[in-house]
Amino acid sequence: MTVRTLYLDEGRVHLIDQTLLPSRYEVIEIKSVDQMWEAIRALRVRGAPAIGIAAAFGVWIAVRDSQSNDPVRDALQAADHLATSRPTAVNLFWALDRMRRIVSEHCDETDGKPLREAVLKEAQAMLAEDAQICREIGRHGASLLHDGSSILTHCNAGGLAASEYGTALAPVYWALEHDRKMIQVYADETRPLLQGARLTAWELSQAGIGVTLICDNMAGVVMAQGKVDMVIVGTDRVAANGDFANKIGTYTVAVLAREHNIPFYVAAPLSSVDMTLANGSQIPIEERPAEEVTHIAGKSIAPSNIRVYNPAFDVTPHRFVTAFITEKGIVRPPFGQGFHTLFEQMNQGA
Ligand code: MRU
Repeated sequence: MTVRTLYLDEGRVHLIDQTLLPSRYEVIEIKSVDQMWEAIRALRVRGAPAIGIAAAFGVWIAVRDSQSNDPVRDALQAADHLATSRPTAVNLFWALDRMRRIVSEHCDETDGKPLREAVLKEAQAMLAEDAQICREIGRHGASLLHDGSSILTHCNAGGLAASEYGTALAPVYWALEHDRKMIQVYADETRPLLQGARLTAWELSQAGIGVTLICDNMAGVVMAQGKVDMVIVGTDRVAANGDFANKIGTYTVAVLAREHNIPFYVAAPLSSVDMTLANGSQIPIEERPAEEVTHIAGKSIAPSNIRVYNPAFDVTPHRFVTAFITEKGIVRPPFGQGFHTLFEQMNQGA
């Protein structure tokens, strides 16, 4: 029912080039670290969990193809380089730290084979774990849904952005696969890069799920008309107090949901929670090229040389969040305490 965003086939890394969807479905092979960096930067692969996994496989490519007598150094250099591809999603740094730890365990070896095997195993484990985490988010999130639920989402936090179920769309997939009926989704188009129109609408249609596309500026009227009974979005980074970054426009949707008394949920794997940041003001926000705003599909829609501001993400204060849906359960306010308890349980192996 879901898409395969990134996969390994006979030692070769493949991913769907998401910049081409929905008009073209094309799987590309990523052959070098630089190509993986470019794929992440250009949003060929995108979505917080997916870019973490992609970067992990980028480190593996570095080790696989290393011609030097120091593959450990090559792997660590690749990790440092890949970390510069995008700044906001903490999953990227979380995944690269995990790879660095594995690589560092092989510092003193002369034979490169154990390093290659360990790095590949870790990247594959991350991919498999992510699918399981998304399923758990789906299972917990589905407890909030009922027959006929109508969900508004922003950007794409589905299978294209992670593994299998994705995060924000996971409760929808899970509920429908477990006999809940008539669940439908309203997808914001998500300017400037239209992840909602190009990706969420495509992904849900492919899965046979009822989806209605709206422009971003229609979310208010859809809520006022009673067409949606909850919002579920994904996230790129959650601060310890529950402030969170997600695709630009999420903040607006959260404020609208509060005005209309509609519950606002954030689907967040715990790898997206950054307990080192006290609040959302510390989350680095990526700014992207002006052309993404002045052009649509290569065609200019604005005067040339117009001044443009193009933050790719915004931060929604935690007071607008009804609950976070994590793989370990639903976290309600106070969020700091809730996250702390979950991490403690995880560290104790629960
Ligand atoms: O710029 P993008 O397309 O990578 O932005 C993606 C989002 O904002 C998603 O909502 C977020 O990464 C969560 S994906 C499960």
